[in-house]
Amino acid sequence: MRKIILTLIILFVGALVVIQFFQPEKNSGEIGSNHLLKSEQLPEEISSLLTNACFDCHSNQTNYLWYHRVAPVSWLINGHITEGKSELNFSDWGTWDPIDKITALDDMATEVKNGKMPLPSYVFMHSKAKLSEEQKARLIAWTESFSEKILTGE
Ligand code: HEC
Repeated sequence: MRKIILTLIILFVGALVVIQFFQPEKNSGEIGSNHLLKSEQLPEEISSLLTNACFDCHSNQTNYLWYHRVAPVSWLINGHITEGKSELNFSDWGTWDPIDKITALDDMATEVKNGKMPLPSYVFMHSKAKLSEEQKARLIAWTESFSEKILTGE
């Protein structure tokens, strides 16, 4: 019995070591001039809310913590980033038409209102991403006033 358990432990540790060689590419591109924070002047509070709660999965730069580099966690994180960026990538903000920007702002408000974004599993691990009701309200109010601004071309 002891032998079997020992063999299983060795196999498990061996597998953990082997999978470390299969790492996804890191999401760590340059902050280009089309990034939302570069192409717009946002209120300080909003830019830090978005940085803390959204940009890890919705931009070309993820702030990795050490265990994010360990497979299989790295695979899971990479899945969120790839999927998140395909929906909405704030690094490309400056290249969008006004209508795309307004749609994105509207979607952001809906997701935050419904508690779908930031992803609850992410908030569980990132306390800074936890938005209070007040912060949510201010973020939503900002999406509305910013849309208005884009619409009127101010
Ligand atoms: C841990 C990664 C992660 C974080 C952090 C995150 N998102 Fe997402 N987001 C995703 C993924 C994955 C999807 C696509 C799947 C889905 O809709 O659930 C997505 C989808 C979206 C969509 C499109 C939803 C739709 O169906 O139209 C919007 C809008 C969005 N996120 C906004 C935000 C905002 C705003 C924040 C910050 C307050 C945020 N996200 C934080 C991963 C993330």
